[in-house]
Amino acid sequence: MFHRNLIALSAVLLTTVAFGVLAASAQVSTASITGDVVDPAGAPIPGAAIVVTQVQTGEILRTVANGSGNFTLPSVPVGPYSLRVTAPGFSAYDQTGIVLTVGQAVNFTIHTENYSSPLQAATKRLTHQRFQHGERRMRQTENLALSSVYSSEVTAMNMNRRNFVLASGATVASSLAWNSIKAFASTAAQNPGISTGKLPSQLLFGVDYYPDQTSESLWQQDAAEMQAYGVTSVRIAEFAWALMEPSEGVYHFDWLHRAVALLHNHGISVILGTPSAAPPPWLSQKYPEILMVNNQGMTLSPGSRRFTCPTNATYRRLSVNIATHMASEFASTPGVVGWQIDNELTLGNSPRCYCKYCHAGFQQWLKETYGTLKNLNEKWGSVFWSNIYTDFSQIPVPLPSGAPPNPGLALDYDRYQSYANVSFLQDQLDVLRHLCPNHLVTTNNVGGLDTIDFRELYRNLDFAAADNYPGFLAVMAGSYGRSMSPLMLASSVNLMLDLMRGAKYGEPFFVMEQQTGKSGQPTFSPQPEPGQLRLWSYQTVAHGAFGIQYFRWDTATFGTEEYWHGILQHDRQPSPGFDEIKQTIHELKSLGLDALHAKCDADIALCYDFNSDWALGIQRGQPELQYSQQIGTWYGALSATQAGVDLVDGVHGLSQYKILCAPTMYIVSPQQAQAIRAYVQQGGIFIAGFRLGVKDPYSRIVRTPLPGLLRDVMGVEVSDYEPIYSQPQSVSFSGPLTGPNAKCSIWTDTLKPGPNAQVMATYLDGESKGKAAITSQAYGKGRAIYLGAGLEPESMARVLMTLLASAGIQPRIKAAPGVDVTTRSAGGQRWTYLLNHTADSQTVQLDRSYHVHTNGAVVSGSLHLPPYGVQVLVS
Ligand code: GAL
Ligand code: ZN
Repeated sequence: MFHRNLIALSAVLLTTVAFGVLAASAQVSTASITGDVVDPAGAPIPGAAIVVTQVQTGEILRTVANGSGNFTLPSVPVGPYSLRVTAPGFSAYDQTGIVLTVGQAVNFTIHTENYSSPLQAATKRLTHQRFQHGERRMRQTENLALSSVYSSEVTAMNMNRRNFVLASGATVASSLAWNSIKAFASTAAQNPGISTGKLPSQLLFGVDYYPDQTSESLWQQDAAEMQAYGVTSVRIAEFAWALMEPSEGVYHFDWLHRAVALLHNHGISVILGTPSAAPPPWLSQKYPEILMVNNQGMTLSPGSRRFTCPTNATYRRLSVNIATHMASEFASTPGVVGWQIDNELTLGNSPRCYCKYCHAGFQQWLKETYGTLKNLNEKWGSVFWSNIYTDFSQIPVPLPSGAPPNPGLALDYDRYQSYANVSFLQDQLDVLRHLCPNHLVTTNNVGGLDTIDFRELYRNLDFAAADNYPGFLAVMAGSYGRSMSPLMLASSVNLMLDLMRGAKYGEPFFVMEQQTGKSGQPTFSPQPEPGQLRLWSYQTVAHGAFGIQYFRWDTATFGTEEYWHGILQHDRQPSPGFDEIKQTIHELKSLGLDALHAKCDADIALCYDFNSDWALGIQRGQPELQYSQQIGTWYGALSATQAGVDLVDGVHGLSQYKILCAPTMYIVSPQQAQAIRAYVQQGGIFIAGFRLGVKDPYSRIVRTPLPGLLRDVMGVEVSDYEPIYSQPQSVSFSGPLTGPNAKCSIWTDTLKPGPNAQVMATYLDGESKGKAAITSQAYGKGRAIYLGAGLEPESMARVLMTLLASAGIQPRIKAAPGVDVTTRSAGGQRWTYLLNHTADSQTVQLDRSYHVHTNGAVVSGSLHLPPYGVQVLVS
């Protein structure tokens, strides 16, 4: 058991690719690839499969199943080829874009190395010793040994982890575009099948609780009241580092053991937080190098939280160290069911760090990603403004300079920061998986936060966990004291929740924190209207939550969040939301695990890709052009169809959707182009927005007419593009889209239709007058539609609704705007959630008869929903 775990872990974390090129022979007219997948001892891995595919045609050239094989490619090799290696229990290894010339022979070996870093070895040894001696606590000397062996290794280890790295000294023929694909290997989506996810087998409904901030004399009362309230789980300790390790190497866990035992005795399960989001003052005083440097070059001050660098080896060592001690303490403590690593990584005043450690980490990451400076200079176009690098140590981080940075460098820095945070988390995850193999592990975050590629962040975690504060968001996002409209708020929260579900490719997620009342720090949102706390809770479940913890049980009377109101008020009396939340917990539990673990139904996929998000953020083209806003506008229109929207990576699982949408897919990778092409060929409907396929994964503009790699699928060329400022632009519609003329804003792509494309809208103004704005082309068994015009949101919604209706997607249940309808299904059952986000009573017209979840009554025809009312129907 132990052995198997270790191997699986090692394979996910450290897969090293050694790649060599055999001498090319001038006589042959073919090219070949020879490959082996071996274990650390060099033995082929049973069950390993290698698949080589011709990317453009999708033709699988050869598969082998025994871990090694030889592929002779066609006499004139027409690339690019893609290579996929899989083995049971290992992460899939994917590479695309392999280009070979005639006569070239490529020989590779993929090693799945055993993951036995000094930390692991030491942890293993010490854990073993501890068990042998029957000691409950790790001795301080042991800990020192553990820390010191780890520190020397941490940087090298983290730089290599989860990247597929060419073994040193490997020579790569220039005609083999291997390095060119490596650069985005770490961020390109890989096989979601590697997910190690699992869902809890018990109902988790509870609160975030702070025994560390509460007098111990109140704990007993708290636990009893929580139990009576219906709480089944709590998260604790995520900000309690100073109490757990009051000075370096001194550990106090007795208080936490007492708190856990008390909660457990009241039937409450505990999720422990590792405390790395808020290191204590002794730590930042002794090791000031851990402090983050913001994007203006200013070092953050301690005294708050989230002021640390994700790369700094000392900080990583100390974070792993406290996590290791916690894990050792609580691995088999009754009541502990899982872990939250850190807290909202990157969610602070400064999401990215620009310190000298990140600088060095970035240079190292680039070395591993690009292999050579020649390659890097070429991919970045460093010749521009004389930026050719002759040593990796010359490469800067994108801090303020005389002009904006090179877009390739800036995009890679975003990737590096995402990677650094994920690998920071992975350090702690390694320890938790190792020491607490039976516990669930996650981290919490806010959907829509885009400094970390969420699919990477949650890849090895059991489930995603969302923090959800709709009322706070309404005030924050409305800025200057005005609040967002209820419809806009509902849609924004829906999108954030769907993004969290998308992090694990559609798996149900947890809500680690949910709003309970007035919320904010220096300023705060009002008390939610009666019914809204319940509505917002159901909203999370309607979008895929399997459980909820409310933030927080009581309200602090000190600290930055004194005004972040909990279920108990400052005076520990029930808050205005007390009864409503209690009732909601009771109701949601009655749904049962079948409903709570059911998959959300979705016929529509909306591509959300971090590469396009980051690249467009670096270079908007028009100041108001924002990736998230485009996604939000499309999402609002698409979700109104009640058909369900999944946020996808543009590569995986596309065939399950009737419609695939891609607004501002600025970067299209070869892998995405291949998947989208295959999707349309097989009958899918692809609807793309302007700025499609402008750039390659290095943030270089493609050397072909736009939309680049997807030109053939779309059947058009972009003959011109233009940001819209004050110049007027509008379109008239024709064919299936016929309707009132519409204004354009922000952007227009002018389209030159190919012979098979049908024009559905035409520009009315300026240079583009009379030219195509929206086109549609049949391709394979499917259809590709290009929305070149930046339509105002209402016309965009009308256009999308019309296109979806013609594909048979339209609302099943008649409901006013602001009444959301979503469904989850499992085992032949379907749960339909009707949520009234408006302050008015609403009547919906049902499409069939249903059973009301709560009492089994049969309903059909009209159904009444009170203001902020909720109904769950079963069919
Ligand atoms: C979350 C955070 C919590 C707490 C809460 C209220 O963002 O994870 O620690 O700060 O918001 O502000
Ligand atoms: Zn840093």
